[in-house]
Amino acid sequence: MRNKVTIHTLHEKMSRRQPLTMLTCYDYPTALVEEKAGIDVILVGDSLGMTVLGYSSTLPVTMDVMVTHAQAVRRGAPGAFLIGDMPYMSYQADLGDAIRNAGRFMAEAGCDAVKLEGGSNVVEVVEALTRATIPVMGHLGLTPQSLAMLGGFKAQGRDAATALAVIDDAQLLEEAGAVAILLEAIPPEVAGIIVDRASIPIISIGSGPHCHGQLLIVHDMLGFFEAFTPKFVKKYADLNSAILTAFQGYMKDVETGAFPEPRHCYTMREGESDRLKKMLAEREPEGQPAR
Ligand code: KIV
Repeated sequence: MRNKVTIHTLHEKMSRRQPLTMLTCYDYPTALVEEKAGIDVILVGDSLGMTVLGYSSTLPVTMDVMVTHAQAVRRGAPGAFLIGDMPYMSYQADLGDAIRNAGRFMAEAGCDAVKLEGGSNVVEVVEALTRATIPVMGHLGLTPQSLAMLGGFKAQGRDAATALAVIDDAQLLEEAGAVAILLEAIPPEVAGIIVDRASIPIISIGSGPHCHGQLLIVHDMLGFFEAFTPKFVKKYADLNSAILTAFQGYMKDVETGAFPEPRHCYTMREGESDRLKKMLAEREPEGQPAR
């Protein structure tokens, strides 16, 4: 068991310029492996709506679903800094809702923080959650819950005016009490300016090497989710092919009788097989099963 990763651990690593490692995770077995690997920060992202539940966006994901997955991940990764991702409409409508929903991640799933999308438009939410002692990670740049406003999954901050807006939003989030900020799909030079001005960890997903840490979606980096792969993903495995090969091998073995083999079967205790045959013969002298 490693020492629990806390917000202090993240700050210490940041000040020592040691990059922070972060992955998404949605289930217990994957969490066990991420914990074994020693991943610093785990995000139970609402991306599970797409990667695990098969929706075409993250919008249908509910709090109940998120809490169930966060609980499973916490059971598998007790040492990681665990962040619960606030799903669509769990914090946008009302501050009371936002506090109650964020509180569920903390109380029911043992999260260390919550993440929510947005800049100046969520400053009041970040302040309210911080006052309620719930640590918040901000999320700027490509924010998938604003898909309709952004007009698709597109990189953000590619011109000076929108880059300036992201830089200003990062400052507002930090001033509102955010303990960390995630930058998604913005150019590295913009991320670098934010990092230079920040005193909290700035994590990149598709925002270049200058950030204090990197995040990838676990199904993308394992080559498991194939519907689409963003430009910023580096694949470290080809799980899809590996699983397909395993399924095809299993089908072939079942269809040809190569599986199961004797080593996959339970044996009867010594003499019990003969005893069973005798019992059947006595009960069914004609050799016909009793119906
Ligand atoms: O839901 C998620 O996994 C996320 C990442 C895309 C950053 O928010």
